Amino acid sequence: MSKGKVVLGVSASIAIYKSLEVLSKLKKRGFDVRFVLTKESKELISPVIFKALTNHEVYDDVMKELDLDGTNITHVSFAKWADVFAIVPATANIISKISCGIADDPVSLIALATDAKKIIAPAMNSHMYLNPIVQEHLEKLKSLGWFIVEPVEGELACNTVGVGHIADENHIADSIESCFYPDILKGKKIIVTAGPTSEAIDPVRYLTNRSSGKMGFALAKMAKYLGAGVTLITGRVCLETPFGVRRVDVSSTLDMLNALKKEIERENELTVIMAAAIADFKPEKREDKKIKKDGNGGFGLHFIENPDVTVEIGKYAKSLKKTVKLVGFAAETHDLLENAKKKIEKKGLEFIVANDVKRSDIAFGSDYNEVVIIHKNGEIERVERSEKLKVAYEILRRLAW
Ligand code: CTP
Repeated sequence: MSKGKVVLGVSASIAIYKSLEVLSKLKKRGFDVRFVLTKESKELISPVIFKALTNHEVYDDVMKELDLDGTNITHVSFAKWADVFAIVPATANIISKISCGIADDPVSLIALATDAKKIIAPAMNSHMYLNPIVQEHLEKLKSLGWFIVEPVEGELACNTVGVGHIADENHIADSIESCFYPDILKGKKIIVTAGPTSEAIDPVRYLTNRSSGKMGFALAKMAKYLGAGVTLITGRVCLETPFGVRRVDVSSTLDMLNALKKEIERENELTVIMAAAIADFKPEKREDKKIKKDGNGGFGLHFIENPDVTVEIGKYAKSLKKTVKLVGFAAETHDLLENAKKKIEKKGLEFIVANDVKRSDIAFGSDYNEVVIIHKNGEIERVERSEKLKVAYEILRRLAW
């Protein structure tokens, strides 16, 4: 079943290939996509490609009749079909035309005719992008509710480096996907911790755990989709930062604690979701120099306990009279419910999300999770096995109080 209907409008920028990359991301995420092309863009990539990759007719001529809903008025039926209309890439020309209400090609026609959520991903030379005329038009579109996926600095087609390089395809796809969620966390500030912390043995070796960070990153991404201001404090992971999320990288448990304290100092009210797999122990001594083999059969390590980060930030917030709601995770291998319940009171949590880290089809490293949410009043809710992004939604919607 389709997750939603997206019309991608394409204008004639050198970044036109990006529309196909975004299509690929959207298809993988389960969206149904149709293309609308300006006349000039057809000269860069043939409409045949767009049709073949979507299995849908392409609207590429204002006089073309494509009957989607029995009206025979193509621009109106495309406009009605769209849940989201995104222009990828958007040239200075199409931006300025839309802002002025000109509708003389299929893309600008749909822009005027649709009441779908609207997104624009500009791509052009930096002088054109920074030109006050283009900026004024973009500001106008923003004020009218269009979301602009800002271009980035990078190499431009004209062999210069500057702002105007189209945004990353994942970021554009994220902006489109976020339109399908309600902004129930708007105005809220959410901190998510993710991934493993690592404890150094010497300058080249460290001890860590199996956490991939996927659950924490899914939570950060979904919190952003739901309208929150999100900071992600993460240990060492190989994951891309979700679009619009502020990321702070840390290494040890103590680094994680200090980063959280800084966030608490900045805000008066926030929610902290502790999805990180925090190292409970660390070597008592970190060697300053690399430990060398000496032929004596190895060496031993003595571990000491790390602080409980959640307990410490709870105390710290109280001392600063800040309102901090805490949500914990419980990584358990046995007696899931009993062990998780004990942590709610010990750590001062609103609720805890318990998962069985012994299973290989969920939790550590997997794209899926299955969790039990245990509230401080004892209520228990089960979230069936599903993608971590979906589990993240189930967790976060319980924070929309
Ligand atoms: N946590 C923490 N500080 C630690 C260890 C864990 O703040 N030193 C947080 C985790 O981020 C998680 C929750 O506490 O949200 C529970 O983590 P878990 O590893 O399941 O439990 P522990 O508290 O470490 O207890 P145990 O290892 O004995 O089960």
